Amino acid sequence: MINIPKGCKDVLPSQSYKWQYIERVARETAKAYSFKEIRTPVFEHTELFSRGVGETTDVVTKEMYTFLDKGGRSITLRPEGTAGVARAFIENGLASEPLPFKAYYLCSAYRYERPQAGRLREFHQFGAELYGAEGPAADAEVITLVDRFLKNLGLKKVSLHINSIGCPACRATYHEALKTYFRPHLAEMCEDCNARFEKNPMRMIDCKNETCGKIAAGAPRALDYLCDDCRAHFEGVKAYLDGAGVSYCVDPSIVRGLDYYTRTVFEFVTEAAGAQGTLLGGGRYDGLISQLGAKPVPAVGFGVGLERLLMVMEAEGAPMPEEEHVDCYLAGLDEASRTRAFLLAEELRASGLTCACDLMQRSLKAQMKYADKLGARFVAVIGEEELADGVAQVKDMRASNAERVKFSELAQYLLKR
Ligand code: HAM
Repeated sequence: MINIPKGCKDVLPSQSYKWQYIERVARETAKAYSFKEIRTPVFEHTELFSRGVGETTDVVTKEMYTFLDKGGRSITLRPEGTAGVARAFIENGLASEPLPFKAYYLCSAYRYERPQAGRLREFHQFGAELYGAEGPAADAEVITLVDRFLKNLGLKKVSLHINSIGCPACRATYHEALKTYFRPHLAEMCEDCNARFEKNPMRMIDCKNETCGKIAAGAPRALDYLCDDCRAHFEGVKAYLDGAGVSYCVDPSIVRGLDYYTRTVFEFVTEAAGAQGTLLGGGRYDGLISQLGAKPVPAVGFGVGLERLLMVMEAEGAPMPEEEHVDCYLAGLDEASRTRAFLLAEELRASGLTCACDLMQRSLKAQMKYADKLGARFVAVIGEEELADGVAQVKDMRASNAERVKFSELAQYLLKR
């Protein structure tokens, strides 16, 4: 038996309606904010992620699915959606089109992580990116989009945490403060943190190692080192959110795990039992486009894992639509009736109805059992006598009464129910 690779999940037909529902709500919400869909390749040149996501991040140092293709190029399966969108934005010259550029994606992503609930090696993200607007209204628009998305899904036990981690100007002073704080503790801290100390001390703040975490708890906060422009920007974001009635808390511990962020960073955290933790994250990343070699363009976006979202929805008991059912199952009692049922099903489908019929020459009992499993609303039974009269015995599966309905009137009959 060949098993599914570790950290991957099948979405079976009995479950896919939940995914389709979340994806539908995602598309509708993105559309309400005039974001259009973008689709980028599942793999990119490795350098895009090492330069874009950042050399000091866990994602790049430990978690990427990287391989040489047959042409000897280093290729990586995307660990997230942002870098690919940035590459497409630059490569397609979208900066010269009217801005802001607003795009959303629903895509798979790959990280070699230790699998656990809500953490997989293949997962799926809904994300949105907005390029070209540097003012706080853009940050607020992205955050309100996410907030509305979660509300549209009926989630209640989620809370928005926001922070500002400044720009390269104030970051330099902040980094110095962090180094001064961490230097005396370096011997106790993990190897990763020692490496981060020189390259990117802010990464030391969200280290998962217990000892490092305790030390990091007392570290200086980025918010206390913001320059005037960054402070005004953050105040602006908060004012927009207040105005839009989006509740949030300022949480100085949020620094995010990827290197490209500047100024606003945010996470939605869930309080639903059994699903504690970060549901989604995002923020501003004004330096990414120039880091990838193009003229700087300010940007802001977010990403949410669909598996994690589904878990939180189930933990909260959020409303889900019913599994899609079949309008009519057409049962045939003999060869000729089965053939008529097959053709009749085609006529019904042409009228927009969802149908199924017997493909396995089964008994009526077995066909009824299958119709029941499909959740068929009606079953139209055709036997020798019905075939001769041009009618079907239509059984209402909810009421369990049956009516004789002419083949020619069956579509109308079903559409009216
Ligand atoms: P991220 O925080 O690395 O940010 O991931 C965003 C979300 O993707 C997480 O909050 C989580 O829901 C989901 N996720 C991440 N890793 C896994 C995993 N191994 N298994 C399941 N779900 C996972 C980003 O990816 C940024 N690109 C977000 C962004 C877009 N920032 C600006 N624009």
